[in-house]
Amino acid sequence: MQIYLVGGAVRDQLLDYPVYDRDWVVVGATPQQMLAQGFKPVGSEFPVFIHPDSGEEYALARTERKSGKGYTGFQYHASPEVTLEEDLLRRDLTINAMAQAEDGQLIDPYQGRQDLENRLLRHVSPAFSEDPLRVLRVARFAARYAHLGFKVADETLALMCELAATDELHHLTAERVWKELERALAEPSPLVFFDLLQRCDALAVLLPELLPLYTLPREQLEQSVAKSCQLSKQADVRFAVLLSLATEALETEQASALIEPLCERLRSPKAFRELALLCRRWHPSLAGFKQLDDSERLALIQGLDLLRRPQRLPPLLLACQALHPDHPLPACQSLPALLERLSQLNPKQLMAEGFKGKALGQELQARQLQLCSALDD
Ligand code: CTP
Repeated sequence: MQIYLVGGAVRDQLLDYPVYDRDWVVVGATPQQMLAQGFKPVGSEFPVFIHPDSGEEYALARTERKSGKGYTGFQYHASPEVTLEEDLLRRDLTINAMAQAEDGQLIDPYQGRQDLENRLLRHVSPAFSEDPLRVLRVARFAARYAHLGFKVADETLALMCELAATDELHHLTAERVWKELERALAEPSPLVFFDLLQRCDALAVLLPELLPLYTLPREQLEQSVAKSCQLSKQADVRFAVLLSLATEALETEQASALIEPLCERLRSPKAFRELALLCRRWHPSLAGFKQLDDSERLALIQGLDLLRRPQRLPPLLLACQALHPDHPLPACQSLPALLERLSQLNPKQLMAEGFKGKALGQELQARQLQLCSALDD
């Protein structure tokens, strides 16, 4: 049997990018031989094994044929006769279809290296269209490497458009879509991901709630997304910024009524949903914090439940700064100090001063408002 390093590890090594996980392909072996060597089988769909020491994935060389809809509708054919070139041919992009032999030799039958040099994301073969997830993958790779000058080849974009025009994208599971979206949000140029989905009409199918992004002034969109990237690598902050922008023209209630079902449909983690909703609801007040009166400030602090959940504030301020990129936010300076002072107001102390019942509540609120009326500069 021959073992080759394949896929992302070969690509990123050539790009001088950090390699986080390595995938291997095994040619000329049977599952029995793998088991005999101590590899552990994973899943039942196709023959992939885990190395007993390194924990890395070793897949038997295979060909694939589409047999149904979506990401899961494949028939796999793995046998010792399947060649490395055949295995590489079924892959998505030429830059992902290179292999490296144990002696370091590069096996590159589909000119992946040349495409790396030409900064081109190009599909390997028409089999690209057999897997609709690839529309999202290509857009994600474009978001990852845009700053290096990578572009999607015209003929690949044409296939992405064709795929989006069929009903194939509807068959992708929420988990798959979310995984790609979350990873794309954390890439250096997340807007490129959405731009590409928009260009091939996949945005209207998968994330129609984001279409209004493309009716905003382009400069505003670019500036806010760039600022969110500059301030934070966190995908949840960027997600909140994009959803606030996309729902900008709506009333708060309407915006929430759009964001909630979107997050539900995508099965996005609770933290993403919460930040997106809070950001959309409160960012205008946070941005204009200094202009608020004392009761509006207290309403904001209570609405965000910041005395009990102060951890909500930092990501919210980052998202808010990105949405208001032109001026520094007064809330960034004054709100943490105000929260500190508010948290020191102790009902027990008021009780010791003789307040009780309704009067206690009223006195607490009066002192909270008093603290809210004076801000640090
Ligand atoms: N692959 C593919 N089509 C897919 C998923 C994966 O052709 N829908 C192939 C590609 O050759 C890819 C390899 O399987 O390089 C490994 O896939 P994966 O680990 O998902 O991606 P990587 O390319 O390693 O990229 P990343 O850095 O994003 O993990």
